[in-house]
Amino acid sequence: ESSSPDSLKRAVAKKAVELVKPGMIVGLGTGSTASMAIEELGKLIAAGKLKDVMGVGTSYQARVLARQFGVKTVDLNDVNVIDIAFDGADEVDGQMNLIKGGGAAHTMEKVVNTMAKKTVILVDQSKVVSELGLTFPVPVEVLPFAISPVLRSLVALGGEPEIRSALRKDGPVITDLGNMVVDVRFPGGIKDPADLERRINMIPGVVENGLFVGIVETVLVATKDAEETVII
Ligand code: A5P
Repeated sequence: ESSSPDSLKRAVAKKAVELVKPGMIVGLGTGSTASMAIEELGKLIAAGKLKDVMGVGTSYQARVLARQFGVKTVDLNDVNVIDIAFDGADEVDGQMNLIKGGGAAHTMEKVVNTMAKKTVILVDQSKVVSELGLTFPVPVEVLPFAISPVLRSLVALGGEPEIRSALRKDGPVITDLGNMVVDVRFPGGIKDPADLERRINMIPGVVENGLFVGIVETVLVATKDAEETVII
């Protein structure tokens, strides 16, 4: 097997679903890596190895894939607990803090991952960084009504905000929740992710930002050299 990013993602996805037990409620993340975990979960269910497992989607994409791969889903508001959640990330630091939201799904992801007893993040080694924000901007979901004042407030925080535009549509990306996404660069990186997470979320009109601090229990990293999955 080659060590292309896809094979690395597949390796962590397979490893991750081994943690699921029958009867569990599973948070289903968004993005290419989490999608593979949904597919692998579906395979175990189809093989009869995981009875009574239900998924909670973090996006339209996750729910569609769950249906496609035979993972039954339940509404977040109809469960009291999520046993385990799988998700990808755009950056992971040594404290297991993250930047998420490259797929504009971070608001629902943060709700699901926070509610889960155990959140498992699946990445290949390219996502592991010494400091958050040196290369990836922080995605911020914003009410369209408040976009201009929010942009000014993000600049006041030292950020360089840019409204995310759609690839195959003229105009902004609109999230599954009907909002806009602003990608905010912080030149020089993010020294205190917990503080920045709070400050951004205090801006009126911000729905949620992609800094995940103290939410994650386990990070599975697929490494290129060893072709093996390690836990950091
Ligand atoms: C979705 O909004 C993000 O939080 C994803 O988890 C993140 O972008 C990772 O996606 P990939 O697994 O496709 O890199």
